[in-house]
Amino acid sequence: MTTEKTPVGDVLDRTAIEGRQLTLSYDDRRIIEDLDVQIPHGEITVILGPNACGKSTLLRALARLLIPQHGDVLLGGEEIRKMPPKAPARRLGLLPQTSTAPPGITVVDLIARGRFPHQRMLSQWSEADQLAVARAMEATRTTPLADRLVEELSGGQRQRVWIAMVLAQNTPVMLLDEPTTYLDISHQLEVMELVRHLNRDEGRTVALVLHDLNQACRYADHLIVMSDGRIASRGRPDEVMTEKLLAEVFSLEARVVPDPVFGSPLVVPLRSLETSTPSHHATPEAHSLDRP
Ligand SMILES: Nc1ncnc2c1ncn2[C@@H]1O[C@H](COP(=O)(O)OP(=O)(O)OP(=O)(O)O)[C@@H](O)[C@H]1O
Ligand SMILES: [Mg+2]
Repeated sequence: MTTEKTPVGDVLDRTAIEGRQLTLSYDDRRIIEDLDVQIPHGEITVILGPNACGKSTLLRALARLLIPQHGDVLLGGEEIRKMPPKAPARRLGLLPQTSTAPPGITVVDLIARGRFPHQRMLSQWSEADQLAVARAMEATRTTPLADRLVEELSGGQRQRVWIAMVLAQNTPVMLLDEPTTYLDISHQLEVMELVRHLNRDEGRTVALVLHDLNQACRYADHLIVMSDGRIASRGRPDEVMTEKLLAEVFSLEARVVPDPVFGSPLVVPLRSLETSTPSHHATPEAHSLDRP
């Protein structure tokens, strides 16, 4: 049996992720307690939440990089901790929020490392490996950077190289922790369109962390909003993205209106509720109160 030639769609039915009663800690510091979470298969899930609420911690646990103190992670219904070492990485790829490349490594060599879970002992670099790397580089427009040193790239170029490495892994489930960080707006949209293509055309399940609320509403089938280690809300963007939620979770006074082009919820931020400093961009109501 070979997994190399298995089309992504064939393994999709068995692949969605679920965390059951997860308790996640760093040493004695408990970050997440008794959390149940499901990443629906075949959908784009965007995870939102303020800094330090536990988004990256959750993603690391779902990818088996962090062992839960309590609870289980199930990948396609199977307990991830009982799988053989390389097995989860053939079905699930993680783009961490921050990564450090080995010194002196070239772009193409780093991206090729995405093939590691597919290689057996003493196996040769195969045509399937070559094709996966070439496709990943094309999709992220990193082909012209192939022979450059990763350490000499700009932040945005480097981010695209890391995304290419996860793409080269060619897994039916992808977890991307802030894939648009460091990218200019055009490259951000390119990554979001790539996510949509991977989902809609190739049938992959993608869960990603974003901070841009409007991009989240535009691209997500399913939103999970975290707050202080818990799930504050989940569901479709139009169900989840309310002015009340923005105030409670993000300490943000905002208006939510339909996006005039896409129809998805559009968040118009007015002011932070965390600061007592008066805003220079006062709301029309606040403005009239300021000047009786
Ligand atoms: N390796 C670590 N060791 C100890 N504490 C950690 C470690 N990584 C994260 N933490 C702590 O866990 C909490 C959650 O961090 P996490 O990185 O999951 O947040 P996040 O929601 O991803 O935030 P951000 O939006 O800033 O990326 C924070 O209080 C953080 O300080
Ligand atoms: Mg994070």
